[in-house]
Amino acid sequence: MKVGVVGLGYVGLPLAVAFAEAGADVVGLDVNPRVVERLRAGRSSTEDVPDERLRPLIGPRLRPTTDHAELANRDAVVICVPTPLTGGREPDLSYVDSAARLLSAVLRRGQLVVLESTTYPGTTRERLLPILEESGLTAGRDFHLAYSPERIDPGRTDHTIANTPKVVGGLTDACRERAMELYGLICERLVPVSSPEAAELAKLLENIFRSVNIALVNELAMLADRMGIDIWEVIDAAATKPFGFMRFEPGPGMGGHCLPVDPFYLSYKAREYDFPTEFVELAGKINQAQPHFCVQLIARALNDAERSVKGSRVLLLGVSYKAGVGDLRESPALKIARLLRDLGAEVAYHDPHVPSVSELGLESVPLEQGLASCDVACVVTAHPEVDYERVVAAAPLVVDFRGITRGMKAPNLVRL
Ligand SMILES: NC(=O)c1ccc[n+]([C@@H]2O[C@H](COP(=O)([O-])OP(=O)(O)OC[C@H]3O[C@@H](n4cnc5c(N)ncnc54)[C@H](O)[C@@H]3O)[C@@H](O)[C@H]2O)c1
Repeated sequence: MKVGVVGLGYVGLPLAVAFAEAGADVVGLDVNPRVVERLRAGRSSTEDVPDERLRPLIGPRLRPTTDHAELANRDAVVICVPTPLTGGREPDLSYVDSAARLLSAVLRRGQLVVLESTTYPGTTRERLLPILEESGLTAGRDFHLAYSPERIDPGRTDHTIANTPKVVGGLTDACRERAMELYGLICERLVPVSSPEAAELAKLLENIFRSVNIALVNELAMLADRMGIDIWEVIDAAATKPFGFMRFEPGPGMGGHCLPVDPFYLSYKAREYDFPTEFVELAGKINQAQPHFCVQLIARALNDAERSVKGSRVLLLGVSYKAGVGDLRESPALKIARLLRDLGAEVAYHDPHVPSVSELGLESVPLEQGLASCDVACVVTAHPEVDYERVVAAAPLVVDFRGITRGMKAPNLVRL
């Protein structure tokens, strides 16, 4: 099978690698020449694909390129480009449009095109299809078209592309069958659904389910704080129920490309149907306010230590949006840092996965140096490499937004 993958980021690269390892002949197209050069040199851009895994594939089995003409002889092309929000927080489908136009220029009879980017229901049929049909070919007759959402969880090793069931919705039954044949190369279990729209909405349901539950537990954490109850003890207790409960944890707010962004895709589309998605919007509102609550907790902890935020040296521990990865997109740490600076704090950070943050003009400081020179250390993202007992022992004051210190008791320790 000759496969093309369009967009070689967090989603596209692991997918291209999986196809190449399964014996497919893979071309990876990316419009960013730096991404392509880096991959050609055998250097991966994601923790999920270590360089040692990538290197033996680069060459005849996986060819990164900036030339879309190389997609012309592919049996199947999978689109994994970004789907962010515009400044006005509306869906930005410009990357999907541009990938579709590149593909449309070289589309051949008999090819299969699959969209994997997360998006609102209707994108494959209403947005992608018309651009692809500018080729003069008809979807469902001359070429096959399907939608299959990515379920990758960066940094995770127990659930992989191979053992995570893959939802597939085709424009026609034949489209779905072709897409299932493709994913059958790399996935153990396929979940066919009746349309691209069902597959598109299934992905949004998965992400909105997480966003709503995180918001619920964040709200309860704020209430528990006011009531003087330890939310972590409450969650640990509730999680012993063997049925009807699923554990979610509070934190500094949501980050990454997915959870803070995807719900807006659904809200936008729902407006076309005169339908307000109230749960979705409420969850977004609560989660976006969480960094403000964290700053309040830092201010209160400093106040209790007879210090003001103004002039205090605050060390943020972990600035990526989740533990074990270096992805800064929409990370709540950035918002917390800005809010603290607005109040006059001096902000530094330590993150073993993020050497520098250009948005803040900062470089990661060595842990010991940071702990020795701060007034308060705040655990924003609990990377596994950091020894938190050591943090509590060395910092004058510690505020933990991740519950990583639960079980520890110390006079200088405050938890969300
Ligand atoms: N990152 C995740 O954890 C995750 C999980 C599930 C789904 N998704 C979804 O997958 C999609 C891709 O996300 P990502 O995190 O891989 O993004 P990314 O930014 O890491 O990678 C996208 C790549 O696409 C390239 N690109 C942009 N336009 C292009 C075009 N027209 N032609 C070729 N290449 C182009 C960019 O240069 C970039 O390298 C998004 O819709 C996202 O919501 C992401």
